Amino acid sequence: MKTSPLLKIAQIVLQTAMVGLIASLPGRAAETKKPLKVGFAQTGAESDWRTANSESMKSEAAKRGVDFKFSDGQGKQENQIRAVRSFIAQGVDVILLSPLVETGWEPVLREAKKAKIPVILSDRSIQTSDDSLYVTFVGSDFYEEGRMAADWLGKFTGGKGNIVELQGTPGSAPANERRKSFGDALKKYPGLTIIDSQSGNFEMSGGKQVMEAFLKKHGRNFSIVYAHNDSMAHGAVQAIEEAGLKPGKDITIVCIDALRPAVQAVVDGKINCVVECNPLFGPVVFDTAAKILAGEKVPKKILNKDELIDATNAAKLLPTRKY
Ligand code: AHR
Repeated sequence: MKTSPLLKIAQIVLQTAMVGLIASLPGRAAETKKPLKVGFAQTGAESDWRTANSESMKSEAAKRGVDFKFSDGQGKQENQIRAVRSFIAQGVDVILLSPLVETGWEPVLREAKKAKIPVILSDRSIQTSDDSLYVTFVGSDFYEEGRMAADWLGKFTGGKGNIVELQGTPGSAPANERRKSFGDALKKYPGLTIIDSQSGNFEMSGGKQVMEAFLKKHGRNFSIVYAHNDSMAHGAVQAIEEAGLKPGKDITIVCIDALRPAVQAVVDGKINCVVECNPLFGPVVFDTAAKILAGEKVPKKILNKDELIDATNAAKLLPTRKY
């Protein structure tokens, strides 16, 4: 049906008047709230832990209706730096950064500070002499995790045995701190000695490869594996089985993360102990971001509570495992 020219003019006049009226209403802009814009520069997808962590962030952002910009750094610091710069250019409200390594972040964090965008370090910390470059850190206490692993080993083995260590990504906070604290705690057990230590890059394939090399090089001259994460421990289990040995019996295995497959491996007797590093802290991160934007003061460090799982509690905890 054709609209008459007179009716059309009347419609236009009415629409223009309505737009003018709405624009002139006091406090209008404040009422039409824009969704929060958050950028997250993730390290990559090196482990099952990382996948669970990314998922926790994404689902929490979706639940809160956040305009979430997720960047997978693919294990490269330069990709993460580029992502942070792009978040600054897009004018996000908050930047979440999970730094692959501890050093080299100052220049880009200074740019974020200049743009007045608060930065939350998620999961991994950085080394800097200028603490004002980030508002807070949310994650686990990696130093404590390594300490718990060493003390468990001290008791379980009666303080005796040769250890091979599977390290995480070189230069990363979890690799540095888990290595340092484990070594510090071993001073109490002079009969426990680390005879070799190599990086498997937090990856299952890396853990398997390094374990194969250890078995070739050292034969049966060690009886303990300390892996900085579950994924590398699973790789080590494979290499040990392929060498005709029994993981958890011929070789004691202790690792960190405690995702469901590792807890299952404890139940099955293939891994002896796993120290938890909870990846599901998306809700805490977004609560913290909201507080910062509301002008509230938040602590400089917000730590997750992690526990130790071994043969004494694994079967009980397995059904309640959320990740
Ligand atoms: O930064 C946390 C560590 O990184 C987890 O232990 C590991 O699995 C991950 O890749």
